Amino acid sequence: MKVAMVVNGTERSGDVEPRVLLADFLRTNLGLTGTHIGCDTTSCGACTVLLDGEPVKSCTLLAVQVEGRQIKTVEGLAQGANLAPIQVGFHEEHGLQCGFCTPGMMLVGAALLERNADPTDEQIRWAISGNICRCTGYMNIVKAIRHAAQLQAAARMAPAAEAAAAVTGGEE
Ligand code: FES
Ligand code: FES
Repeated sequence: MKVAMVVNGTERSGDVEPRVLLADFLRTNLGLTGTHIGCDTTSCGACTVLLDGEPVKSCTLLAVQVEGRQIKTVEGLAQGANLAPIQVGFHEEHGLQCGFCTPGMMLVGAALLERNADPTDEQIRWAISGNICRCTGYMNIVKAIRHAAQLQAAARMAPAAEAAAAVTGGEE
């Protein structure tokens, strides 16, 4: 049957059997292989994508269940050549080793920062508690999300500072 959804801002569609999982549709039909499959049983979080902004495990949804909805995958985080703050955070804080868990970790991190711009480490740990990393021990992932929060805060302050400088002519 035909299924259509908006993926990373672009309408995408395909012909699938009703039993096809969203993870398989993204990877096989759309070629978005940044969405990883680690367990197929809702345990590991490697397949996490954002559904209307909320993290979901795409191995637990059928493609036909998200008809007409908004999906964001890891491929949708960067704006052209500009990495998203969450991606910069993982780069700067060495938040990955093999990188298999990283797409899911970055998407849950980005969703957390959307609703809580200044999370505590405990809140970050809670947000990533459905995602398993077999390499990093989680410390650097927490640091990476905190780093992204700081980058986003700095970006929010920058326009205000520029506006104030324009009003005062840049004088203290
Ligand atoms: S592949 Fe979906 S949770 Fe592991
Ligand atoms: S970096 Fe390897 S599983 Fe997380």
